Amino acid sequence: MTVIVTGGAGFIGANFVFHMLAAYPSYRVICVDKLTYAGNLSTLKDVMGNSNFRFVKLDICDREGMYKLFKEEKPDIVINFAAESHVDRSIENPEIFLQTNILGTQVLMDACRKYGIQRYHQVSTDEVYGDLPLDRPDLFFTEETPIHTSSPYSSSKAGADLLVLAYHRTYELPVTISRCSNNYGPYHFPEKLIPLMIANALADKPLPVYGEGLNVRDWLYVEDHCRAIDLIIHKGRVGEVYNVGGHNEMKNIDIVKLICKELGKPESLITHVEDRKGHDMRYAIDPTKIHNELGWLPETKFADGIKKTIQWYLDNKDWWEEIISGEYQNYYKKMYGERELISIG
Ligand code: NAD
Ligand code: DAU
Repeated sequence: MTVIVTGGAGFIGANFVFHMLAAYPSYRVICVDKLTYAGNLSTLKDVMGNSNFRFVKLDICDREGMYKLFKEEKPDIVINFAAESHVDRSIENPEIFLQTNILGTQVLMDACRKYGIQRYHQVSTDEVYGDLPLDRPDLFFTEETPIHTSSPYSSSKAGADLLVLAYHRTYELPVTISRCSNNYGPYHFPEKLIPLMIANALADKPLPVYGEGLNVRDWLYVEDHCRAIDLIIHKGRVGEVYNVGGHNEMKNIDIVKLICKELGKPESLITHVEDRKGHDMRYAIDPTKIHNELGWLPETKFADGIKKTIQWYLDNKDWWEEIISGEYQNYYKKMYGERELISIG
């Protein structure tokens, strides 16, 4: 089997590359990544020497480059993680989100049609369902929940999902889609909530919580997401969408307080800042379908996963300190420097 993993130098893609190389020693895994600000070759250093692994620096929007690669490698399975993934950046600059997330998906699927594959898998997100109200804890996202997006990021992911389903219906491309909740774990880029708070707390810097911090996310350890995708590409039904989540809803403010506690830092570092525009209130996945059909269940409890994650950031300072020392400083100043402080009373 030859598997193309796009976006494999990013957070979840890299964890998936590690998972596949360990779980299927006979598979050839080809990572395609443009190496945007979010992609890091250093993340893949341990697998670079593996004879079953190949890294190709390529933009998924590059049709010619992609066709050439498909012709050469004849992949059996293509798993598309490549995306612009940060909601806040999509609010500042939507265009690149539409290009990579929608048009890049189209190029990939055209290559799949032209050269023939067994499976195209689209890594989507629970954000395509919009959000749920805080006062209705009985509501969850199922695969039947209408698409109802809030941000340019989630709209671009929803657009891609619709295109993937259209390629299945129109051209009979053998596709599957997974829609997962918030991941956390090793190699999570420091712009996202959990690694940002760990890095800032370690530097005794303010911990910028958007608004009151009452927004709820449904956190899943990254390895559990990788196992879910592994099951879907091998045993999932073609043309189907699978929601992935572990019933682990937490308020942002509680996550940040937990990080302070684990690191022995005072909660006085917490600052409440101007809210994200269009900020989704609550995400909560109903994973019944993937459990019933494929037997998937999360294995890592949040209490253990967050400890492991914090320890990973303590043990791998070189990885993230390198990232936050460069261009990231400008991003941070732009996103947080001008953000108004708010008082919560
Ligand atoms: P990430 O930002 O950490 O990594 C994205 C990777 O894609 C990077 O390596 C980047 O260089 C690469 N990339 C970006 N544009 C590219 C292009 N045009 N061509 C080739 N490579 C390109 O993202 P992540 O958090 O690992 O998310 C991976 C996927 O999972 C995304 O599709 C995202 O929408 C989805 N997802 C993420 C989460 C989450 O909690 N992080 C949850 C559900 C779904
Ligand atoms: O639900 C899946 C999605 O989860 C993925 O599709 C996205 O790619 C991924 O980035 C993530 O989106 P979120 O917007 O939920 O993640 P983020 O880490 O950016 O923010 C999590 C919550 O924390 C959100 O309510 C906003 C809040 N937040 C975030 C940052 C970066 C803060 O309060 N302060 C911050 O500085």
